[in-house]
Amino acid sequence: MRYLLALCLAVLFAAPAVAQPAPRGVWLFDKAPSYPGVTMMQVAADGEAIRGAVTTAWYGPMRMLNPSWRDNVLSFDLRNLNDRDRPTRRWTARFIRSGVVLKGDFWSSHLVQTGRRGTAAQAEARAFRFAPALPALGTVPPDGLAATPPMGWSSWNRFAERIDDRTIRAMADAMVASGLRDAGYRYVNIDDGWQGRRDAKGVLHPNAKFPDMKALADYVHARGLKLGIYSSPGPKTCAGYEGSYGHVRQDAQTFAGWGVDYLKYDLCSGEWFYDDADTVKRTYYEMGAALKATGRPIIYSLCQYGRFDVARWGRSVGGHLWRTTGDITDDYRTMSDIGFVRNPKFPHAGPGGWNDPDMLEIGNGGMSDDEYRTHMTLWAMQAAPLVMGHDLRLTSAGARALLENREVIAIDQDALGQQGRRVSRDGDREVWRKDLAGGAMAVALFNRGDEAAAMTLRPETVGLRRITALRDLWRGQAVALDAAFTVPPHGAVLLRVEAE
Ligand code: GLA
Repeated sequence: MRYLLALCLAVLFAAPAVAQPAPRGVWLFDKAPSYPGVTMMQVAADGEAIRGAVTTAWYGPMRMLNPSWRDNVLSFDLRNLNDRDRPTRRWTARFIRSGVVLKGDFWSSHLVQTGRRGTAAQAEARAFRFAPALPALGTVPPDGLAATPPMGWSSWNRFAERIDDRTIRAMADAMVASGLRDAGYRYVNIDDGWQGRRDAKGVLHPNAKFPDMKALADYVHARGLKLGIYSSPGPKTCAGYEGSYGHVRQDAQTFAGWGVDYLKYDLCSGEWFYDDADTVKRTYYEMGAALKATGRPIIYSLCQYGRFDVARWGRSVGGHLWRTTGDITDDYRTMSDIGFVRNPKFPHAGPGGWNDPDMLEIGNGGMSDDEYRTHMTLWAMQAAPLVMGHDLRLTSAGARALLENREVIAIDQDALGQQGRRVSRDGDREVWRKDLAGGAMAVALFNRGDEAAAMTLRPETVGLRRITALRDLWRGQAVALDAAFTVPPHGAVLLRVEAE
């Protein structure tokens, strides 16, 4: 008997470990890291095969791809839209006694969260609520707004999420005191970071930093300015705040009720749900129609980074401007890539609808004066919206000279609304032409090289027979018809040309 017991034990300990089957069930994550805000994980099985999904605040349910189970770890991939070169991201869920540790390299950060096993009923309580179906694509009729490119200021480039009521009021005051309002800048735009929570009726409220949006709008309006705000068609904005997903008409009404005059609508997490031309157009149409239905004139700024040739259809969904590229940053390389390469691809700009190469960085300090002059020249030549992005209280004399030059602004704001284009390129030297109402023309000479370059304007380069008058707009003076310009590295000359 004793031998038998010993034998049994020996067999037991020598036997290979029996693989545990993957657990099935539902796990809830109460305090998940905010991105992508995992709230629930579900694991089921089809015979041997494992099936599963995680639910996130940003994207709703995400199906597990290639799930596998080994050594108490469930590994799976999730679809990733943020990096074309990496269409999926690897995640692991390690099952330990106290729950589950979920880790993902999504957005190159790690998520670590211990969950507790929930019941199906609890899981249902956490179910993601899908928005009602998008409307069929329609057309928002033109409304006469934005006959010339919108001009103003936005909080994002300088302040990002560090914004509050006081700062926005201070910007409105500075816009007036600096003379920028009188130079034509009118919109004071609150970008991402103002949003709080929805109440039981779904009404979106600002966060504590913005105690009274209506009073803020009144303050801005009293200074002869207009107020802009920001949202997303997705559940979350790019910075993780509440988006308009599922509340589009309600939010449009809320904004109009506050007295908002401008909405930037940024795709962000909406790209999960609206990821082809059809759904992206329809989601932008949905808000365009909702804004129109409020009866308030509101400039509608589409921000979906130029996808699906937005310039072709931006107007028809109610847009007055549409971003053509990803985000600008305060360096010459990014600015010039946007200005010289990306924005000019689209020929659809004109009164009522404009290509938007993103906000200005002038005054933020990352470029030289010559580079900032090129920035302003390129934006003016391309009839781009002029939305400043610096702290208006700290506008240096140099920044002011660039931002308040009336003759340069007049090129941007010209009534013909033509987006200028390159007409010649010789190494690093480029000549651009923009026709103006009344028959004159703006011509820009750009030197994209690292050494100063000598440039002259020959009439035939810009398709003219004979030039009769030439005015250097940055210097504010007439120049000789055969003037030779020394254009500094990364610099620009902007001319107003009269011709026969
Ligand atoms: C995106 C936009 C930016 C800015 C941020 C805010 O990146 O392109 O212009 O609005 O979101 O989070």
